[in-house]
Amino acid sequence: MYQYQKTKTYLAQVPEDIKELAEEELKSLGAKETKLTYRGIYFKADKETLYRINYNARLIIRVLAPLISFDCHSDRYLYKTAFNNIRWEDFLKKDSSFFIIANVSNSKIKHSRYAAQRLKDAIADYFNKKFGKRPSVKKENSDIILNLFIRNNRAIISVDTSGGSLHKRGYRVESVEAPMSEVLAAAIIKLSGWRGEVPLYDPFCGSGTILCEAYMVITNTPAAFLREKFGFELLPDYDFNLWQKVKSESNKKIVEVEKGIIAGSDISESAVNAAKKNCSLIDENGRIKIEKKDFRDIKFEKKKIIITNPPYGIRLKTETPIENLYKEIGDFFKRELKGSAAFVYFGNRGLIKKIGLKPSFKKILYNGGLEGRLVKYDIF
Ligand SMILES: C[S@@+](CC[C@H](N)C(=O)[O-])C[C@H]1O[C@@H](n2cnc3c(N)ncnc32)[C@H](O)[C@@H]1O
Repeated sequence: MYQYQKTKTYLAQVPEDIKELAEEELKSLGAKETKLTYRGIYFKADKETLYRINYNARLIIRVLAPLISFDCHSDRYLYKTAFNNIRWEDFLKKDSSFFIIANVSNSKIKHSRYAAQRLKDAIADYFNKKFGKRPSVKKENSDIILNLFIRNNRAIISVDTSGGSLHKRGYRVESVEAPMSEVLAAAIIKLSGWRGEVPLYDPFCGSGTILCEAYMVITNTPAAFLREKFGFELLPDYDFNLWQKVKSESNKKIVEVEKGIIAGSDISESAVNAAKKNCSLIDENGRIKIEKKDFRDIKFEKKKIIITNPPYGIRLKTETPIENLYKEIGDFFKRELKGSAAFVYFGNRGLIKKIGLKPSFKKILYNGGLEGRLVKYDIF
């Protein structure tokens, strides 16, 4: 029996800054005994809950199922333990492919790449000895992703039950400059508390990440709806019928929404085309409205809430200095959003004061490795 089978304990990797939100989400999907750790949440779950979490969670990156953990003071011991203590054919075939993500800190083994190399050697030698042929290593689209974590000379070898980062929802086929992470967009929607009472608008929609995530939330579309395969399908105790049941129960909760409840625009034609293409993959009936527009020309006929991520880079295609652009954004909010609110994600927090409005809420949120701020403005 592997460790995850004995303990029913998994590790969800999550962005550090939204850990509490992700914990709430995990619990709402049935996770038990959650425990926060650096960039992660341990939780207990039965198989059905594991599948449900992988299919539905919007705020986690991946779920790891630990196979073994052991004290590990040398690369030789790592090699020997991996060679002797795991029946690798439980997870891999001799002609399949795998990839190892390793993370080593504060241990005798110093380098993550070297640790990954030794684990790879153990797997390759195991197969060569037993079957005369070995699986190959493949970075993109490998059949299985293994995770090796060594900290304070304690090693854990796990299977990535998500089969690659869950932020890859499958709808972003076209991108723009400075797109937002899907998990960040989902966290912003969650933090905004928006549940469709007022139509949502993104006047700087770029490739449409906020629009897509908002649409998935409001229609109850599972975050991994477009995902074709999951790592848990390669676990030795994978239950196909149970997975079909989880999938169909989740899909039954999907609801239709009226057209225009989510809308957005962007000044760039290529961004608008990208957003339309991306949104069409999840919104087959074209409920999300997207058009090409300068935000200065927007006039709202009805009350809206804005959730947006304006440009913050140096390479702005207009002549307007970025500071002036933010002053104009503030003026636009005052003019069009009376009695409502705007949630703005700033990639550059120096620009917050340029907007000329008093924030009613601020939170540090990272986009990739870059520190940004989510700021709420209530407009009276
Ligand atoms: C940081 S990007 C938004 C990225 C988006 N959240 C995504 O995930 O793809 C900012 C967007 O603002 C657009 N933009 C710049 N100036 C604009 C203006 N005056 N009116 C409307 N959109 C504008 C840019 O074309 C760009 O797509």
